[in-house]
Amino acid sequence: MTILVTGGAGFIGSNFVLDWLSSSDEPVVTLDALTYAGNLENLASLAGDARHIFVKGDICDGALVAKLLAEHQPRALLHFAAESHVDRSISGPGAFMRTNIEGTYTLLEAARAYWSELGEADKAAFRFHHVSTDEVYGSLGADDAPFAETKTYEPNSPYSASKAASDHLVRAWHHTYGLPVLTTNCSNNYGPLHFPEKLIPLMIVNALAGKALPIYGDGKNVRDWLYVTDHASAIRAVLAGGRLGETYNIGGWNEMTNLDIVHTVCALLDELRPDAGGSYKRLITYVKDRPGHDRRYAIDARKIERELGWRPAETFATGIRKTVQWYLDHPEWVARVQSGAYRDWVAQQYTA
Ligand code: NAD
Ligand code: DAU
Repeated sequence: MTILVTGGAGFIGSNFVLDWLSSSDEPVVTLDALTYAGNLENLASLAGDARHIFVKGDICDGALVAKLLAEHQPRALLHFAAESHVDRSISGPGAFMRTNIEGTYTLLEAARAYWSELGEADKAAFRFHHVSTDEVYGSLGADDAPFAETKTYEPNSPYSASKAASDHLVRAWHHTYGLPVLTTNCSNNYGPLHFPEKLIPLMIVNALAGKALPIYGDGKNVRDWLYVTDHASAIRAVLAGGRLGETYNIGGWNEMTNLDIVHTVCALLDELRPDAGGSYKRLITYVKDRPGHDRRYAIDARKIERELGWRPAETFATGIRKTVQWYLDHPEWVARVQSGAYRDWVAQQYTA
């Protein structure tokens, strides 16, 4: 038995692969194009581990995906690979359309061809697990009910529109061809190995460098935050017991404003790495808002709990402490990430 993971060198994918191999001996083949967000160093602890094979390649390369499926005969394909940063999708949507839509289409077609040739037992056991986001549902008002799986799709950014399109493709391949698919829509993840263009890691690394902590708009946008290994355990639960063709929302029951997040990060840094200049909160700076900035996301995660018994193991207090400590303990990881394309991106994003 083997699983094929796309995007396994990124933030969530690498945490998933590490988590998987820490609790199972079932081999993993990771396919990742190593874009700016893909970092093989995230998987360095698996070097020489016979249970893990890394393949550098593009999910839009149908021949490569077909070859990997034929060669490794996986019993599941877990699809994490994506362009994932909303701000980048606003300044350059093309890569999002290609990877998130065309890439998912390419994987579905390759998986369909492979799956249709399997023997009956393997065919029944095969799963195509699509990892998606709560952003496909749109934006909530302060008093609206959290997103349930039945919520209409109302994506607002090029990123969320491309993920919504990919969700629809996955659904269609199930209904039309019978491909055994599962889709999970998760809220904002945080934790180790998070690329420092996203809110939480950016605030940690900027604070430690004495740089401004840029808050978009009024800082009162709300997100639901989930520790990344809880996302991994939720995916394992859905892969193992999810009903075919169903979607499962995954969330942390933890809505917070961006300002509350940044204040929490600053307070932890004040405790763990006090700065002679005073509290890190002095670095908070309000900057121009993200265009079309969704106001609030919230997840109703009762379906996955009711059907599969999954609930997050971490609270925000435990998860954010581990996260801040991880960044304090890994300055060399941060330095290497920052010496690459990331630096050019930050310069482009935060001028003017
Ligand atoms: P990430 O940007 O950190 O990693 C994406 C990975 O995909 C990288 O390793 C990158 O190299 C790879 N990749 C990109 N284009 C590729 C291509 N064409 N072919 C092969 N590999 C390619 O993203 P993440 O935050 O780890 O998100 C993983 C998945 O989870 C995405 O599908 C995202 O939409 C979804 N998601 C993310 C969050 C979150 O909070 N980060 C929440 C819910 C869902
Ligand atoms: O909800 C799930 C989604 O969460 C995932 O699908 C995306 O891949 C992931 O990037 C994330 O999207 P967000 O846009 O919510 O995450 P981001 O970290 O970019 O921003 C979180 C909030 O913080 C958002 O309201 C914008 C704000 N923000 C972000 C940055 C980078 C700031 O105020 N300042 C910043 O510098």
